[in-house]
Amino acid sequence: MKHVLFTIFGATGNLMYKKLLPALYHLKIQNRLPEDTKIICIGRKDFTTESYIEDARSRVNGNVNWDVLGDILLYYKMEITNSNDYTILNEYINQNCAPQLDAKIFYLSTAPNFFPIIAKGISDAGLVSKNDGISRVIFEKPFGEDLTSAKTYNELMNRYFDESQIYRIDHYLGKEMIRNILVVRFANRVFEDIWNNKGIESVKIIVKETEGILSRGEYYDAAGALRDMVQSHMMQMISLIAMEPPMNFDTDELRDEKVKVIDKLSCCPIDLNNLIIGQYKGYLQEKNVKQDSNTETFVFIKAKIDNERWSGVPFYLITGKKLDEKKSEIVITFKDNSSAYKKWKPGSIMKNQLIIRVAPNDGISFQINTKLPGLQMDVAPTVMDYCHSCQAIGNLPEAYERLILDMIEGNTIQFTRWDEIESSWKFIDDIKTKSNLEQKSLMVYETYQELAKIIEKEYGVKFE
Ligand code: BG6
Repeated sequence: MKHVLFTIFGATGNLMYKKLLPALYHLKIQNRLPEDTKIICIGRKDFTTESYIEDARSRVNGNVNWDVLGDILLYYKMEITNSNDYTILNEYINQNCAPQLDAKIFYLSTAPNFFPIIAKGISDAGLVSKNDGISRVIFEKPFGEDLTSAKTYNELMNRYFDESQIYRIDHYLGKEMIRNILVVRFANRVFEDIWNNKGIESVKIIVKETEGILSRGEYYDAAGALRDMVQSHMMQMISLIAMEPPMNFDTDELRDEKVKVIDKLSCCPIDLNNLIIGQYKGYLQEKNVKQDSNTETFVFIKAKIDNERWSGVPFYLITGKKLDEKKSEIVITFKDNSSAYKKWKPGSIMKNQLIIRVAPNDGISFQINTKLPGLQMDVAPTVMDYCHSCQAIGNLPEAYERLILDMIEGNTIQFTRWDEIESSWKFIDDIKTKSNLEQKSLMVYETYQELAKIIEKEYGVKFE
């Protein structure tokens, strides 16, 4: 692969500065991008390539040698709602890129309501043809706003592109420790017989953030935590933890197994209120947020998976903005070893716990009981800790770096297939309708501790 074109719509957005530009830069300096790679950054703002780079300089964190990116990057101003602009874009690409491209990537880093218009624009202008073998169209999450809109978008996309050209991105699938779940689960004999309701007491999926919604008020106020985090990243985490072993990890069989789990997931039973929603204090004063908005910035869900393996095991999902720390992790608590309990002092034996730390400090810890040093036979919990990032030579690859390489190579396995999206929207829509979310009272919170206390009181489960 030699000649590659990236065309990124939404190039003046948060994601571009926070993730895409740094990822492309790291790939470039590691010589991982094909020799002739061009990045066309599309936005509505009145920039030249030079002034765009000047502006990006102050927005992108970390060390970037802008001369290196400047060599491969072009800014292109256009109105994405104007169909004529796509024909002119086509001419611009022809003038600035190799005549025979090996891969053409169109990255839609915009709000989902722009997906149809951009898809139509690039298709009508002949920038992408169905099954042309070289084009890939990347859709940032969320794909849709609910099941109905997602279906409409999908039908439209299928009109313009073949499923093999559609890449619905969920950057969690590019994270090292999310990929590591497959290895931990399926390469270790010790877990095989107990990875079910006989061995596991509960599973917690935790994604906490300290930041608020930053400058994303317009998008976030329409989305909320359920659509922004649960429908995508948390569904992926649950499905990898709970799926049956796939025959292969690098084929569609992996995605088949993931869908089966999401299909069986429900917030159980909704009439028992297995859901808490909250909004951080000060949210209503954020830019582009409705003054009377009841958008949730925090969600706690007690869910269940209705199949033989997981019957009776609660899956707790917790996510929110402006919480006490930035942390994504999965906590698997094993059932107690009741016969051993009788032999030692009450309360001295802890349940085994496996923690998969997605970020920060990527790694794994496993809690076991051991004898305390000394003459007595007293027991104490010991944590065995594995630091994944410490093992890496240089920095760990960022999620977007890996996924960008997959896009170039045309590998869709680490992207979400339509049926995964469909099932996860069903789960979210179900919660929204059956729990009467609109009427449900939002807890206005100032600290995470207030929320954790309520969860402990009402559900008897502790969240650190
Ligand atoms: C994005 C959400 O998909 O994921 C953001 O839109 C959220 O609201 C982000 O902050 C979290 O990603 P990470 O990689 O920082 O855990």
